[in-house]
Amino acid sequence: MEYTEKVLEYFRNPRNMGKMENPDGVGRVGNPVCGDVMEISIRVKDNRIEDIKFETFGCGAAIATSSVVTELARGKTLEEAEKITNQQVVEFLGGLPPVKKHCSLLAEEGLKAAIADYRARQARKKAG
Ligand code: FES
Repeated sequence: MEYTEKVLEYFRNPRNMGKMENPDGVGRVGNPVCGDVMEISIRVKDNRIEDIKFETFGCGAAIATSSVVTELARGKTLEEAEKITNQQVVEFLGGLPPVKKHCSLLAEEGLKAAIADYRARQARKKAG
């Protein structure tokens, strides 16, 4: 299986990996194919993703794509971040081996789940 240099670089030096203290939203998703799990935490200020971290218990491609999605989402509005697709992540990495494409879905879904969790928390706050 061939990984691009960029995938290997992100796998070896993942950006934004780790836990966040008191996040505003958390998305936890699992891949039913392999059982791998990833979690994305976001801090939101003025509708923008001010800080973002991920933890992935999965393969190298899952780690690399999770890291890239956090980089792409940082500083974006929630609406912009929601539009990030796994295809964009894969392109950023210069491609993934076909058997590993499904791994990049975790990154996209994790980010969307974190934003959805943030919105649900806001709605609960408003409801009092
Ligand atoms: Fe499970 Fe890649 S093999 S996420």
